[in-house]
Amino acid sequence: MTRKLLVTSALPYANGSIHLGHLVEYIQTDIWVRFQKMQGHTVHYVCADDTHGTPIMLRAEKEGITPEALIEKVHAEHSQDFAEFLVQFDNYYSTNSEENRQLSGNIYRALKANGKIATKTIEQYFDPVKNMFLPDRFIKGECPKCHAKDQYGDNCEVCGTTYSPTELINPFSAVSGATPVRKETEHYFFKLSECADFLRDWTRSGTLQAEAANKMSEWVGEAGENKLSDWDISRDAPYFGFEIPDAPGKYFYVWLDAPIGYMASFKNLCAKADIDFDEYWKKDSTTELYHFIGKDILYFHALFWPATLEYSGHRTPTQVFAHGFLTVNGEKMSKSRGTFITARSYLEHVKNPEYLRYYYAAKLNGSMEDIDLNLEDFVARVNSDLVGKYINIASRTAGFVAKKFDNKLIDAQHAVIDEMRAAVPAIAEAYAARDFARALREIMKLTDAANAYVAEAAPWVVAKDDSKAAELHTICSNALEMFRLLTIYLKPVLPNIAVAVEAFLNVQPLQWSDVGQGLGAQTIQPYNHMVTRLEGKQIEAMVEANKDSLQAASTPAKTESAAKTSAKSEAKADTPAVEEGAYISIDDFTKVDLRIAHIVSAEHVEGAEKLLKLLLDIGEEKPRQVFAGIKSAYDPATLVGRLTVMVANLAPRKMKFGMSEGMVLAASDERGGPYILSPDSGAQAGMRVK
Ligand code: MSP
Ligand code: ZN
Repeated sequence: MTRKLLVTSALPYANGSIHLGHLVEYIQTDIWVRFQKMQGHTVHYVCADDTHGTPIMLRAEKEGITPEALIEKVHAEHSQDFAEFLVQFDNYYSTNSEENRQLSGNIYRALKANGKIATKTIEQYFDPVKNMFLPDRFIKGECPKCHAKDQYGDNCEVCGTTYSPTELINPFSAVSGATPVRKETEHYFFKLSECADFLRDWTRSGTLQAEAANKMSEWVGEAGENKLSDWDISRDAPYFGFEIPDAPGKYFYVWLDAPIGYMASFKNLCAKADIDFDEYWKKDSTTELYHFIGKDILYFHALFWPATLEYSGHRTPTQVFAHGFLTVNGEKMSKSRGTFITARSYLEHVKNPEYLRYYYAAKLNGSMEDIDLNLEDFVARVNSDLVGKYINIASRTAGFVAKKFDNKLIDAQHAVIDEMRAAVPAIAEAYAARDFARALREIMKLTDAANAYVAEAAPWVVAKDDSKAAELHTICSNALEMFRLLTIYLKPVLPNIAVAVEAFLNVQPLQWSDVGQGLGAQTIQPYNHMVTRLEGKQIEAMVEANKDSLQAASTPAKTESAAKTSAKSEAKADTPAVEEGAYISIDDFTKVDLRIAHIVSAEHVEGAEKLLKLLLDIGEEKPRQVFAGIKSAYDPATLVGRLTVMVANLAPRKMKFGMSEGMVLAASDERGGPYILSPDSGAQAGMRVK
């Protein structure tokens, strides 16, 4: 019986670019799917952009476009990135689709009919300027524990305390800067607390990796413990999402409709490819459903999602596979180190996606451990395994077949070939268990055996003796049969190289079942080199390109001056203001919060050669104290009462003379300065400069 598998990767948010961290998951899933397809199973691999929620709504607003225009643009970018990394979805859709609206509505109605929906009035922070309720991450303020300023509404990045936004001291809206007010609102809840028995069984029934099952057990608790709270599934307008049926002004929280997006993408595929949707989702389905996810979203996939499916009359997932997070050179990806690498910049600098697919595969073992991309090791590994070992088998033998045997092979037979065939079950088992690292270790062992055979047989020596033509023919035919077998084994990881090899060997797309059937007296095509070496300087260029230009420009000045002239102040007057390749995106720019500041007072600082102490009103409760390196050019008395421009979201800096809570902008170069800026009349203290 052929198995029928529906496989998903998590749906990436539609407000950011795909980066190498995301690709761990999409490459992992794609390799597994390609492997399963090569087995002859029926496999559908679907994904979509996750398009709803406040961040996407606000991001579109910032860019001055509609959310629909934003998600359309991002959909095109994501699709392109995935295609170039050879991630072959059968459908890549969007959660903002008609299918998803209907499925979400139906599932909600079914949950409601099952008595699993409740409403509760809750109190939440509300932004009186933007007229919207604020998600926790859009509220900032002072940590109630350690008093660090500018911390998010749910936890403090300085001391690590978690709290609720209502505990923040001097909270402000990260959207408008306004002081939020508490306001009552009615929310809809999914009664997860009533699903504990089901979830306890489900999470322990082999659906999760052991480490994940343990974690979920903790969350669900033992029978009678009642640890799960109900899940808040509604958000108030304005919100970009689906309105809840019969609840005007209330929207589904993005995490309610996002996993239903898996179904919606599949439904869309079913219509195009004539597949029976219900066969895959009905309660007693005999098909298999697999979700690949990162460990950060386990809670949603191992608790909310199975409960949603169970109590709306659907089947539940066969298994959820969680992976760890990517580190680069042993550390969290970082914009300042240039290791927050986008898919696009990899493609621009390194180009060949199969290097990364190979490296990730060599590191992925099916566990939830983090995986490290060590850039030096990456170059060494790819060059040694792919170029030095695997491709080498063909490149050292193919030429003789063309030159001496008119591109014809003869029957191959050798102990190494037998060994390769015998390894098939072990390799297949490792792939199926998502232990690609083990699969590649097995394959590389065989590759070493093939290379040892070629080295010992030394076709380049045999070729010099015309009387040994038959021996040469045997060596080359054997080597190319070994190469063909290795290509089958590597095909889930290296699909493009496999296509090139299929053309070279003149065969149909290789399947797992082709292992047993040798090439025989095959006529092949002339050999063209299939992979080039990866150069270290390609990696350096990629890292350089990902260094956050803004961060580089805002490193503290070497002098005690807190005033910053232009980031390009060291450039000569005749150099262009923006060098080629040095553009920043609008997002980079909007990270800088520039404000009109009213200079309330200005005075000399005892002991400071260059600084003036300014108090700047930017519409906040208290004026900001800023030390500016403008003493050489300004008499403090002439500054008081003026309007100028300051950077309001620069991290406060402790200086010798006190805290500096921002930065005043000023122009200068060898021709003079610093000159501070003045806005046109009409500008008011606190206005944003953008
Ligand atoms: N939109 C949600 C998923 C909804 S699924 C119904 C989301 N999106 S995401 O863009 O933040 O992440 C997409 C996937 O990429 C997640 O599985 C996440 O774990 C994974 N990764 C994102 N950054 C990652 C790393 N740095 N390393 C490994 N995986 C990472 O979550
Ligand atoms: Zn703190």
